[in-house]
Amino acid sequence: MREVAIIGIGQTKVDEHWDKSLRDLAGEAALAALADSGVHQVEAVYVGNMMSGSANRQQHLGAYIADWIGMRGAEAHHAEAACSSGAASFRSAVMAVSSGSVNSALAVGVEKMTDSPLSEITNSLATAADAEWEAGQGLSFVSLNALLMQRYMHEYGWQKEHFAPFCINAHANALHNPYARFHEKVDTERYLRSAMVNDPINLMDASPIGDGAAAVIVVPLEHAPIVNGHNPVLVAASSAATDSLAVHHRKDPLFLKAAYASSKKAYQQAGVTPADIDLFELHDAFSIMAALSLEANGFAERGQAPRLAIEGEIQLGGRIPIATRGGLKARGHPVGATGVYQIVEVVQQLRGEAAGTQVEGARVGMSQNIGGSGSNIITHIFKKI
Ligand code: COA
Repeated sequence: MREVAIIGIGQTKVDEHWDKSLRDLAGEAALAALADSGVHQVEAVYVGNMMSGSANRQQHLGAYIADWIGMRGAEAHHAEAACSSGAASFRSAVMAVSSGSVNSALAVGVEKMTDSPLSEITNSLATAADAEWEAGQGLSFVSLNALLMQRYMHEYGWQKEHFAPFCINAHANALHNPYARFHEKVDTERYLRSAMVNDPINLMDASPIGDGAAAVIVVPLEHAPIVNGHNPVLVAASSAATDSLAVHHRKDPLFLKAAYASSKKAYQQAGVTPADIDLFELHDAFSIMAALSLEANGFAERGQAPRLAIEGEIQLGGRIPIATRGGLKARGHPVGATGVYQIVEVVQQLRGEAAGTQVEGARVGMSQNIGGSGSNIITHIFKKI
């Protein structure tokens, strides 16, 4: 297998883009990544998306996007793994290049959620849960996460206010990210006062609905050029694992077994331990997911992630900075694009281009994209060269 590097990144602002189509968004991010890489043509295009069939009446996104960005003739397909579709498209690109099958690939994640009413989007999101046992019984993604948060608070004795630092940190970092959905400072009072969505999850625990696209270009490390003064970024590990689709089929619903399995493999591939990770773009779709993810990936003891957050260890300058550009909570979560946004943000950090929220001396970054309520988890580790 060949070593693979990222040589170009691009993204759109996460927003309510009523004036842009799915292909406008994907095209904007993809063309920005191509311009950033100095490459004009790629051999393969992989598109991450979860719900374009229902939300935008458009499928067959491989050919759709390849055609739109002037890559007719390239191999192209769509990767779907619910909210981890973005990372799945990137993993397809990495595998295609590392195997020697192609010499260049574009991964672009795109989602356009705000053209549909919230009730329709909530139903589409719920298709990532078990239709018979979960969604069919009236559970939404918010309610599944609310059940997990309630159980976690019961088991470990945490109160609502102990989850505030996750949201406060994400919103503070998003203030410096021009591509973030929200530029609003949040404090504990604002967190506690915000509207309840599904007890105990309030608006400030939840990632928002939004539109956006992000893209990266990968090539074999041996052919990776230095473009515009920045070095390529090494893909040091790419790993994925699954768990039961329905949460109640797990012996221990408060342990993200697939996160543990995929990061364990990723740490081995990259030859690192959690102590070597300088920043972690994690899947904070809800505060509880941020907590469970920190624990399953070895950054906090079971039941202790809120303590890590309260002690400031998740902030810039802390032990493990997370959501450094706003995370899903404040940068936004256009579901099929999120995994690629996370990768773009790690690359910005490793290039030293994360203006306003730069992690000083960052050399190793990790991203993790979670599909469903922990049922499909994809981890990547990147190294500065
Ligand atoms: N955090 C902070 N502010 C938010 C927000 C969020 N998550 N979501 C919306 N807002 C703000 C909006 O900007 C708007 O502010 P304004 O009145 O100042 O303009 C206000 O709240 C109302 O926005 P609206 O779009 O009407 O919210 P909504 O009630 O339609 O949706 C949620 C809010 C939380 C229900 C919705 O975002 C949601 O379902 N999120 C979860 C999505 C999800 O499950 N994703 C998959 C996870 S794996």
